[in-house]
Amino acid sequence: MKILVIGGGGREHALAFKINQSPKVDKIYCAPGNGGTLELAENIDIDVDEIEKLLNFAKEKKIDLTVVGPELPLVRGIVDRFQSEGLNIFGVDKISARLEGSKDFSKKFMERHRIATARYIDFDDLEEAERGISNFSYPLVIKADGLCAGKGVVICQDEEMAKKTLKEILQDRCFGSEGSKIVVEEFLDGEETSLLCFVSGGRIIPMESAKDFKKIYEGDKGLNTGGVGCHSPSSLMDKELMDKIKKNILVKIEEGFKIDKMDFRGILFIGLMIVDGEPKVLEFNVRFGDPETEVLMPRLDSDIVDIFQKTIDGNLREEDLRWKKEECITVVATSKGYPEIYEKGFLIEGIDKLDKDIILFHNGTKKTDNELFTNGGRVLSFTALGENLDQAREKLYSNIDRVSFKGMKYRKDI
Ligand code: AMP
Ligand code: GLY
Repeated sequence: MKILVIGGGGREHALAFKINQSPKVDKIYCAPGNGGTLELAENIDIDVDEIEKLLNFAKEKKIDLTVVGPELPLVRGIVDRFQSEGLNIFGVDKISARLEGSKDFSKKFMERHRIATARYIDFDDLEEAERGISNFSYPLVIKADGLCAGKGVVICQDEEMAKKTLKEILQDRCFGSEGSKIVVEEFLDGEETSLLCFVSGGRIIPMESAKDFKKIYEGDKGLNTGGVGCHSPSSLMDKELMDKIKKNILVKIEEGFKIDKMDFRGILFIGLMIVDGEPKVLEFNVRFGDPETEVLMPRLDSDIVDIFQKTIDGNLREEDLRWKKEECITVVATSKGYPEIYEKGFLIEGIDKLDKDIILFHNGTKKTDNELFTNGGRVLSFTALGENLDQAREKLYSNIDRVSFKGMKYRKDI
């Protein structure tokens, strides 16, 4: 089979790594890919939102299956477009993608189907919003409705900050039309965890749990990032919590899909806040997480290509997902300055000195003249499996300093 993976981050490298293990696969293309995917795939210079170019490429190369990594092409309708031309593609359709593409749509879905989430009000008018925030105490959370590259959520500590944020989004349009609407919601104080699921034939089938570390500094201090470390399983996710999630959340989402006639086939990534032992939904994503994929793919025992195809065909079953007993950890090396301003283009050295059992996923690298350079805020995901997390962690941290680039940073407490 010929497979096309769309995207160019650590998530797509991890997907390509797992796809490459399938005996069915002869050739992988990655668009646009990165310095790491080059080792398994042929990188194609097409961006993730160039849907017509991707479609023509898939036709020309007779791609058997396209796998979509990021949300942007899903929200723009890549799956509907490919399917209208008879092409086989893994990902949700445009309507289902609204669960990630519009906070308002997703909050209304949760409200309609009585799924536990933070209380909210939506606004599209600045003056109404300024009056409406008096219905909330502080801190409160303001979310731009659309896709804002992970920057559309602002936790406001006081009224001054809330008013400033409302003005920036609704009046100054700092997120353009993605911020033409906003959601204001109550702040949930608890512990965060995520659950990634395959959805197929109306059934939600959870993967193993994973805990993402979002803050840039040790001890969960500093700014929010896309995620700078992850381990699987998540220490939070015990059987009692999982049972509550199934009963109070997953079953209701399944019912919601049925009632709303949503033909959701693909990945549902549920961001959860556990408040006093009760799970509440923070957000839905309709794609694999990054860095969650970097710890989940090495733990997955089954053939991912079979799983993708069964999901598309609507007949995936829980027993199709087989997991290794080993546990997995990933630590992301970032550029100095990330998640704010950072420089790119620094030489990366020492990869050949890593032990053979360290899996290195590339988030943001570029190969030029056979040398590897930094090419993003998140650069490399060092990944290790072990009998348990302690063992994996020890293996990983004893290797990571063998690799270096100027300004390299990583968290030591994943
Ligand atoms: P979201 O994109 O909605 O997941 O928001 C990004 C991050 O903001 C989440 O991962 C949380 O850390 C935080 N967040 C979002 N909504 C809330 C909320 N209602 N209460 C507390 N934290 C939140
Ligand atoms: N790790 C969080 C995300 O992929 O959105």
